[in-house]
Amino acid sequence: QILLWLDCDPGHDDALAIILAAFNSHVKFLGISTASGNQTAAKTTANAISILESIGKKHDIPVVMGASKPLLRKRQNSPEIHGESGLDGTSLLPKCDKVLYAKAQERKAIDVMAQTILAQDRKVVLVATGAMTNIALLVSVYPEVVEKVEMFTFMGGASFGPGNVSATAEFNIYIDPEAAQICMQAGFQHVAMIPLDVTHTVLVTDNIIDRIRREVGEKNKTFAQMICELMVFFRDTYERVFDFHDGPPLHDPLAVFYAITHKQNKLAFKEKLMRVDVECGNGLCVGQTVCDIWGNSSTEEKNCYVTLSVDVDKFWDSMIEALVSGGAS
Ligand code: BDR
Ligand code: CA
Repeated sequence: QILLWLDCDPGHDDALAIILAAFNSHVKFLGISTASGNQTAAKTTANAISILESIGKKHDIPVVMGASKPLLRKRQNSPEIHGESGLDGTSLLPKCDKVLYAKAQERKAIDVMAQTILAQDRKVVLVATGAMTNIALLVSVYPEVVEKVEMFTFMGGASFGPGNVSATAEFNIYIDPEAAQICMQAGFQHVAMIPLDVTHTVLVTDNIIDRIRREVGEKNKTFAQMICELMVFFRDTYERVFDFHDGPPLHDPLAVFYAITHKQNKLAFKEKLMRVDVECGNGLCVGQTVCDIWGNSSTEEKNCYVTLSVDVDKFWDSMIEALVSGGAS
């Protein structure tokens, strides 16, 4: 079993990343840390707890609230994509449990992360689906954690194609580029990047929404309805903001899917090891993940498996299976 910690900012696609990790038999889900990203840290924390409640796991998977702002830059959130709550579009999401919300703030996230990771008898997998602020702080304050992480996968960046907040930068990296660069330089044993180039091939099409309604609805109509409403909201914002007509890209669960498939040797991604650095200046390319694909622009060690493509059908089969289990629980 993979020992997995998820750092996220739910977020419509983060919510599905949580569900994928929570219902995969190969995963032991150690906990969730949240940060400012799609919405404020207060809201993403509440959303994480609500999602866990909707799948009957709120007492099984601890949530800790992390960074409320990036390391150096001003906080930026994304209400135009995820709404005012960070998870707009449905009235079926359970209200956040107040006791668990208070508990999420009792201790610093990096203390809980370090303690949990270091206490395991095996190495863990760290997955990031938001800005990397918490992880940058974690490896800075507790560098001994790096050794204990066998794989760090993240959804973020754009390898060869365009960004989604600027011509070159993707949101998770753009809002805290310094944190991302700290993580790229941290010395993790295996780093895998799931960039927009890959996530934009995994769309929540009308067919997928029908599948969710049918297959998940068979177990639990209300839960299926909630997921469909969230996906429809996400679809509509992507259509409005990005002119996407075939459905929104379901970015974040792919970072979990990479960890699951890779650890079982069921390779579902094509990838290439290369040097990746993050542009931390203030010019046009701030937040760009600079991927040295030909190995001719950096003398630094190759530090990242950049994924190039994914088996989309395999992903959806796993995702829908997890949603069905979520509905049944
Ligand atoms: C990323 O930004 C967020 O809006 C999503 O949750 C995803 O992690 C995509 O650029
Ligand atoms: Ca996210």
